Amino acid sequence: MPPSFQTLATATVLLLLFTASAVSCASLPPEDGIRIVSAEKRIDLTGPIVKVYLTLKVENVAAASDAYQVLLAFTPTEVQHLAIVKATRAEGKRKKKTYVPLAVEASDLATSAPNGANLYSVLLDAPLKPGETITLEVLYVLTHSLEPFPAEISQSESQLVYYRDSAVLLSPYHVLEQVTYIKMPSNRIESFTRVDPTSRAGTEVKYGTYSNQAPNSYLPILVHYENNRPFAVVEELVRKVEISHWGNVQITEHYKLRHGGARHKGVFSRLEYQSRPSISGASSFKNLLARLPPRVHSVYYRDEIGNISTSHLRIGSHKSELEIEPRYPLFGGWHCTFTIGYGLPLQDFLFESDDGRRFINLTFGCPLLDTVVDDLTIKVVLPEGSKNPQPIVPFATEKHLETSYSYLDVVGRTTVVLKKNNVVGEHNVPFQVHYEFNPIFMLAEPMMLISAVLLFFVACIAYLHMDLSIGKSS
Ligand SMILES: *[C@@H]1O[C@H](CO)[C@@H](O)[C@H](O)[C@H]1NC(C)=O
Ligand SMILES: *[C@@H]1O[C@H](CO)[C@@H](O)[C@H](O)[C@H]1NC(C)=O
Repeated sequence: MPPSFQTLATATVLLLLFTASAVSCASLPPEDGIRIVSAEKRIDLTGPIVKVYLTLKVENVAAASDAYQVLLAFTPTEVQHLAIVKATRAEGKRKKKTYVPLAVEASDLATSAPNGANLYSVLLDAPLKPGETITLEVLYVLTHSLEPFPAEISQSESQLVYYRDSAVLLSPYHVLEQVTYIKMPSNRIESFTRVDPTSRAGTEVKYGTYSNQAPNSYLPILVHYENNRPFAVVEELVRKVEISHWGNVQITEHYKLRHGGARHKGVFSRLEYQSRPSISGASSFKNLLARLPPRVHSVYYRDEIGNISTSHLRIGSHKSELEIEPRYPLFGGWHCTFTIGYGLPLQDFLFESDDGRRFINLTFGCPLLDTVVDDLTIKVVLPEGSKNPQPIVPFATEKHLETSYSYLDVVGRTTVVLKKNNVVGEHNVPFQVHYEFNPIFMLAEPMMLISAVLLFFVACIAYLHMDLSIGKSS
């Protein structure tokens, strides 16, 4: 009796599997005769931000049709935390490898993944012909994906976090061979889910090699480990860039910073913090590093109370580094707000394009290293009299125009406002704002100044006259 029951069960499972794969095949777009010959997923959990590197060897097994895109799948939770997805096509062998960047866009194709998945499509620069294979390298970044557990720790405790993912690659395609590596910052790994074969070597856990995974396979895993890297979260950053055609670019940045790690519990003892720095407040941080352009000048750093002098500036020929130190160390859940300001030489950033218009070439994102910016606003204040501004940013941002006024302004300055959520270091790339400018406006400021001075004299003279006449009459 038992053997026959077993055969029945196996048959049912096989039938189910067959139906499942049939269903998933039906919903795939027609050109997807694609399968993944080998997939390697490397998850870097050493910092506060999760970075995942995929190496996919992709084959087109269709009989006749070319493939123009390769789809990547993300769970709905991942999509909420996804800051950026980048893909390149790797060419050549080992040392002579070159990488061709490929466009990635959100796809509206439906999947048959059990709990729903969102697809992103990597657009190939040349169609993948039947029988051909390519290698894709993908990087995606997840923010706010490490959950501190315990959620509250005292000053003397280390910070432990949870990370959830899948042992196998979530993919709409058949995956022939796959391995996942998870890299952690220290040897202290409290626990990790086993999905055999699973092994650990020092700070790294390896899942796989798994073979022959059906499309949309997902095997949940949970790792619990120590991560004391500074969880610096910029809740809000407003960067104001003021361009003056008299030779200067003035940048002012307002930061609202939070320690996004496990909340601090109990009282803070500065004595313990200072006497046992290695174990006390291990997850707290007391300084931050900002990477600024070379040739930066007039740097200041202040908070609500006033200027803070504990900052160090190193000026280099390729970049400058500003190390800033808030007035108190930051523990989990603590906030601080501060402002950084600096000037830059205009000729390094302002250029003339072929059509005679001008453009400013700046860096997007946040100069603070290893931070996530929840809410970034960049305001580019163009010189008075600038017209038809056109921002060019290599990814989607919210854009609008406003007018700002400063002293000596007559008509106000056109200001380009760019906004983006969930910004990470990978967003620190050049962007441009093109605009038209009539040089006659260069005279507006001095004219205003001269008229102001004249007006002042006239007023003085009038006053003196008035004064005299009063003197005479009395
Ligand atoms: C802060 O420092 C900057 C630059 O060193 C200076 O221009 C500014 O006047 C200072 N502000 C105060 C309130 O000391
Ligand atoms: C903007 O500046 C960067 C270097 O800071 C440079 O690589 C890039 O080519 C420039 N872009 C344009 C359009 O000039």
